[in-house]
Amino acid sequence: MAVSDISHRPRFLREGNVYLPHLAVIEKIVDETFDTKTFHFSFKDERLREEFTFQSGQFCLLSVLGIGEAPFCISSSPTRRDQLECSIRQVGRLTRALHRLGVGAEIGFRGSYGNSFPLDFLEGKNLVFVGGGIGLAPLRSLIWNVIDNRDKYGDIDIIYGARSPADLCFRYDLEAWEKDKTINMVTTVDKGDEVWTGREGLVPVVLGEVAPSADNSVAIVCGPPVMIRFTFPALERLGFTLEQMLTTLEKRMKCGIGKCGRCNIGNIYVCRDGPVFSYAEIKNFVSSEY
Ligand code: FES
Repeated sequence: MAVSDISHRPRFLREGNVYLPHLAVIEKIVDETFDTKTFHFSFKDERLREEFTFQSGQFCLLSVLGIGEAPFCISSSPTRRDQLECSIRQVGRLTRALHRLGVGAEIGFRGSYGNSFPLDFLEGKNLVFVGGGIGLAPLRSLIWNVIDNRDKYGDIDIIYGARSPADLCFRYDLEAWEKDKTINMVTTVDKGDEVWTGREGLVPVVLGEVAPSADNSVAIVCGPPVMIRFTFPALERLGFTLEQMLTTLEKRMKCGIGKCGRCNIGNIYVCRDGPVFSYAEIKNFVSSEY
């Protein structure tokens, strides 16, 4: 399969002024870890609430009045129309401001932007999800999307890890996926604590032990750079080609629509050309970052 075949990039830019944020209300906040929260939103505008659509893998720009704006992947699945969620780690000024907000607070939301995971390419394939820490957020959107269309896909392996048990995000999802007999869910931590009875080991190492077959499979990978750096070679050792590995990139962004050049790496703009890429497309550009 040529790279161009999996690079189909639908865009779902809204009509009208794409820089104009829509007001959204925080309806629920879930504490994932000590520094990560999942925000559930709903648009104030009733029509937008009804008509807004996005695809798994796309991102949005969230803003807090007087503070600024930053990009976040949408971590909920478009198959669940009543859910619009972003999972946000507190790392800077804007994310600190977001974390200070409570239920009922209003934020600005613009998007959805970017390409998406290529569902047509994934259909009929075995899927291997490899995630680390908050990197599970974009994968989670696709995982629920695939589960909601389960008969379209083959085997599903999910290998997810974090530094410690306290760093595991989406525990409620991990439990649901563990109970799902059609999924092989493997959770690991780099180092357990006194109550952890699960698996210990780095994600790329555990991936090698689980050893999913590369035959008719696609691996979708997202996590911290150090995990990514060792996961792609681990997949290659299992027989995955560069085209059989997908990932989604994070980069500082300003416009989100390919105008400002802020998200440039090599000859790509992450917002315009991604954020979803096959490893074949980005290997040369990102090797220095990863
Ligand atoms: S954020 Fe402006 S070009 Fe990508």
